[in-house]
Amino acid sequence: MSTEKELDSILDKEIISEIQIKQRLKEIASLIQQDFEGKNPLFIGVLKGAFVFLSDLLRLIDMELNVDFMAVSSYGTATKTSGVVRILKDLDTDVTNRHVLVVEDIVDSGLTLAYLKRNLLVRKPASLNICALLLKEGQQKVDLDIHYIGFKIKPSFVVGYGLDIEEKFRNLASIWTLKEGYCD
Ligand code: IMP
Ligand code: MG
Repeated sequence: MSTEKELDSILDKEIISEIQIKQRLKEIASLIQQDFEGKNPLFIGVLKGAFVFLSDLLRLIDMELNVDFMAVSSYGTATKTSGVVRILKDLDTDVTNRHVLVVEDIVDSGLTLAYLKRNLLVRKPASLNICALLLKEGQQKVDLDIHYIGFKIKPSFVVGYGLDIEEKFRNLASIWTLKEGYCD
């Protein structure tokens, strides 16, 4: 973990608390459970950012399901995606005829998810839905149908609860904005 001094100099405001996250996850889990009951869905976590969200969400869902992961890397700067996505780790599971729920940490331009969606649809799942913890309002460059959204936030760069800047701050329990100078 970073030193306290570093936290103080980089982190600005806590915009979503641990309690708010817990409460919202319960609501989303209950919706997902209603929608997927009896369908043995395959949850696909998008690494690395979604690992904290996915692991908390799963434990609130009481039904038969499977979990797999994809790791993607988007080219770009530390705080902006270019839309060119590289698959670093593909699924171990065949998604053909499966009810798939892609679980992502945050939607900014939407280009990463648009790419993933195209890539997965080719494999002919029975259904494909998206669940994102955060959505940056007004930033999407593509039309994406996101079925479950945790929180809509203003378009500033955030860290914590799985989200990072240059691999730091994933272990914070809540979501924070960064001080000016650390985000463009
Ligand atoms: P998009 O392709 O522009 O929607 O960006 C999506 C990916 O960029 C996410 O999966 C994150 O990994 C990363 N990302 C976008 N915004 C943030 C942020 O505010 N904090 C941390 N990562 C972010
Ligand atoms: Mg991500």
